[in-house]
Amino acid sequence: MTSTPRWRQVADATGLLAPDGGVGQTIFAEMTVLANRTGAINLGQGFPDVDGPDYVKEAAKAAIDAGRNQYAPGDGVPELRRAIADHQRRHYGLDVDPDTEVLATTGATEALTAAILALTGPGDEVITLEPFYDSHAAAVAMAGATHAPVPLTADLRLDAIALRAAATDRTRLILVNTPHNPTGTVLTRAELEQVAALARERDAVVLTDEVYEHLVYDDAEHVPMATLPGMAERTLTVSSSGKTFSLTGWKVGWLHGPAELVTAVRTVKQFMTYTSGSAFQPAIALALADDEAPRVLAASLAARRDLLCEGLEAAGFGVVVPQGTYFVVADGAAHVERLGLSDARELCLRLPELAGVVGVPVAAFCRQGSTAADALRSRVRFTFVKRPEVLRDAVGRLAALNR
Ligand SMILES: Cc1ncc(COP(=O)(O)O)c(C=O)c1O
Repeated sequence: MTSTPRWRQVADATGLLAPDGGVGQTIFAEMTVLANRTGAINLGQGFPDVDGPDYVKEAAKAAIDAGRNQYAPGDGVPELRRAIADHQRRHYGLDVDPDTEVLATTGATEALTAAILALTGPGDEVITLEPFYDSHAAAVAMAGATHAPVPLTADLRLDAIALRAAATDRTRLILVNTPHNPTGTVLTRAELEQVAALARERDAVVLTDEVYEHLVYDDAEHVPMATLPGMAERTLTVSSSGKTFSLTGWKVGWLHGPAELVTAVRTVKQFMTYTSGSAFQPAIALALADDEAPRVLAASLAARRDLLCEGLEAAGFGVVVPQGTYFVVADGAAHVERLGLSDARELCLRLPELAGVVGVPVAAFCRQGSTAADALRSRVRFTFVKRPEVLRDAVGRLAALNR
């Protein structure tokens, strides 16, 4: 008997395998096609419609002109590694050695995938929250490990009891994403402490996806897992310049942690891309010294969040106001019921025609048929990382749902 090819396991883990064995496209691609076809405003995909700071773009151009066009060192250019270490010290008081404890990667995606491939394999279990970012599930499937998702509570917080119940002798890695995509939940120190205690008990490594670290609002605080007592030695921290500086296409990300874990990840990562972005890395090194640009972005995103949340509420959605990220999760149960639909997926397919707006169903971030997918079946994720005039237009259109 032949085994299921790994790519099919990846497709299955990310909900792309149809019952007839065919492979579908991601919900983001599907909804983007829908937006383009109907002229609807695409609040499904989370990328900014305004680029990051000009001086950072100029620095990349200057780096190209200065001849930084060949392979960068596999670990990343020294000034970027130093800038990452400085950033972690300045913001969080973390002591990181730029030479042995930092890797520059092709976005956070490569850091996460390389870490999961390096540290897990068949028989190992990887805990994540549920809903989860799709590449997390894909990487676990690539590694041949078992994904153990832990559903968030109804108010989208960590469920400490479910977390404990998911842990076994085979738990190798606990993957935590805070601020969390798709819910916008920012885990509190107390919630992170629950994860940390479990990781210590089970001798598991914690892999944290902190790509939205600077996009937190109101009185929420981003607490890096590595700052908790005893956690620096068992935590791999992943982040990226894409969200912080609105330069998602440059794919300059990084990972840091104890030298022996970083060595493990480097061993795998060097045979993935080896390196990328020679001219972008020095520009991001410059950006990382800038604490003002992320603060300004966060303040403007908080206002845009309020605009969209108020509009969604006025349009009959139930909203859990997010404390971080680019996203708000809105409950479309009233519309699903009123229109005789079965779930948010059907609502999302109808939204362009009903309201000229596109969102994505939150269940797409869950395992197909899971209890979390069921609990979140009427929820839709919308992004607010669009210009205020675009959001005002979207809110105006959404009002049509009430007519
Ligand atoms: C939670 C999360 N992790 C990782 C990524 C990917 O980051 P990058 O573009 O740096 O690979 C994203 C992008 O949307 C994300 O939302």
